[in-house]
Amino acid sequence: MISGFEAIYGGLPEAQASAPGCVNLLGEHTDYNDGYVLPIAIPQQTIVAVRCSGAPQFSLYAAELRQSVQFTFEAPPQAHFASYVFGCLALLRKRGVRVPPLDMFVSSGVPIGVELSSSAALEVATLRCLRQLLNLPLDDVQIAQFAQRAEIDYAGVHCGIMDQMASSLADTDRALLLDTRTLARRFVNLPPGSAVLVLDSGIARSLAASGYNTRRAECEQAAQLLGVASLRDIDRVNQLASLPESLHRRARHVVTENARVLEAVNCTEASAFGELMNASHASLRDDYEVSTPGLDALVALLQAQDGVFGARLTGAGFGGACVALCESGAMQTVARAVLAAYQKAGGAGRQLVPSDLN
Ligand code: GLA
Repeated sequence: MISGFEAIYGGLPEAQASAPGCVNLLGEHTDYNDGYVLPIAIPQQTIVAVRCSGAPQFSLYAAELRQSVQFTFEAPPQAHFASYVFGCLALLRKRGVRVPPLDMFVSSGVPIGVELSSSAALEVATLRCLRQLLNLPLDDVQIAQFAQRAEIDYAGVHCGIMDQMASSLADTDRALLLDTRTLARRFVNLPPGSAVLVLDSGIARSLAASGYNTRRAECEQAAQLLGVASLRDIDRVNQLASLPESLHRRARHVVTENARVLEAVNCTEASAFGELMNASHASLRDDYEVSTPGLDALVALLQAQDGVFGARLTGAGFGGACVALCESGAMQTVARAVLAAYQKAGGAGRQLVPSDLN
């Protein structure tokens, strides 16, 4: 990393920080409804290194993309990846921090565009690096809140706070139970003998942005019709009876998904936890309608495989990755068998977590 920085800028960075990507085990499409989520960090990290530049403008180099961009606060970068970094810089400046022009170097080990929070990892790593460089009095929750704000205001994604809280606070050994309304949180052990497997479906998330915004609006509409601040305030599905059919199904997903998260954190058996993941997928497919036939096929192959306790799509849906809870000793066999069967059925998947089992 430091050698990469040196090769580009011809000197050493003054600060360097990293942040992990994350995968959500349960609690999908609940964060923007003030509900519960259960993400866990993945080993892959994004690293950001910076130094104050003598130049009048910012320079940003993205190692994996081999792309360099220059920008100022008056002339923001056009490249999409740079908007996440620019958002963090611009937001700090708006909050009164004097941010000098910087030479910045980014290296992302987090797979991009598959719902493993690569944008949150980039934002959190950027903010951690700036905290170090400029001695900013920000704690890890504030870093997550700034990161979310930067994504909404400058990258134009109206996301919830799960990804940023997970990247800023989660670890790779235990899941993070987070109440997105109060930000109360605690670590939860995975059931004994189990481990997390993540496979990419290879399906591009082409409808993700529009689908996400529509679902969000539907939830807000349902909450309004029910006279509550958000769907978090409903805890029984029979309270949804007055809603029109499609809103009823959307809201039912959110209410049952919140209940699944709270049930999962008390599971001592991996099989019980896995059943909840299977039920989550069915709900995302049938009630929330954010799955695709390809994701359903990959999830079904995982669910049918010996050594798998449960599986589901993870993240917003419409493509991207699937997560499974597996017997810890069976990961390699499961991944190989499922990816081979998926390929036979016409899919092109790959293993993302663990990243060293190929
Ligand atoms: C995306 C968003 C998250 C969350 C998930 C769905 O990944 O970034 O905030 O809403 O979708 O659970």
